[in-house]
Amino acid sequence: MTRTADLIADVAAVLLSEDQIQEKVAELGRRISADYAGRELTLVSVLKGSLPFMADLMRAITIPVQIDLMEVSSYGGTATESSGLVRILKDLSSSIDGHHVLIVEDIIDTGLTLNYLVRYLRGKNPASLRICTLLDKPARRLVEIPIDYRGFEIPDQFVIGYGLDYGERYRNLRFVGVLRPEVYTSPA
Ligand code: IMP
Repeated sequence: MTRTADLIADVAAVLLSEDQIQEKVAELGRRISADYAGRELTLVSVLKGSLPFMADLMRAITIPVQIDLMEVSSYGGTATESSGLVRILKDLSSSIDGHHVLIVEDIIDTGLTLNYLVRYLRGKNPASLRICTLLDKPARRLVEIPIDYRGFEIPDQFVIGYGLDYGERYRNLRFVGVLRPEVYTSPA
């Protein structure tokens, strides 16, 4: 059985501590609450990686919000590379026609997944559509994505924790870290 301590042992370095993340989430919540004051906001989060960020961010927002969840998977890629071919595994539960929509993402890497999602959601006729991402890895961007709310810009490293996985593991860590190289090379 794998315990949290074993997961932590796989981590080479902590990139963002729990405190750093929580401080940033509170700041983003304040900004979003001020920017959307007097309007009804719908947060659309993308499973599974954005789950902890969405849960914390929605509670840091003080204006009325609705939430919806989508799940997409990119296919044709590898465990650490996205391909840009996106399949919708779970669609919106309610209409966003006329809603002010804020997409809540865990990380923007190449931007291919979000580029697809933005085009898809625009087609649903929202009153406005903006993007909030906790992490931004600009070094690997292949398509331009206008980011309205950005938590942290990070270097070109594959990161895990706070929702982000490698082989579906490490999502439950409270911090964002970098894995030891052996984890990628040794068989599971
Ligand atoms: P993009 O399409 O390349 O921008 O990748 C978007 C998705 O790839 C994210 O929502 C994550 O699920 C995954 N991803 C990209 N970079 C990382 C990383 O460093 N760690 C874990 N997942 C990542």
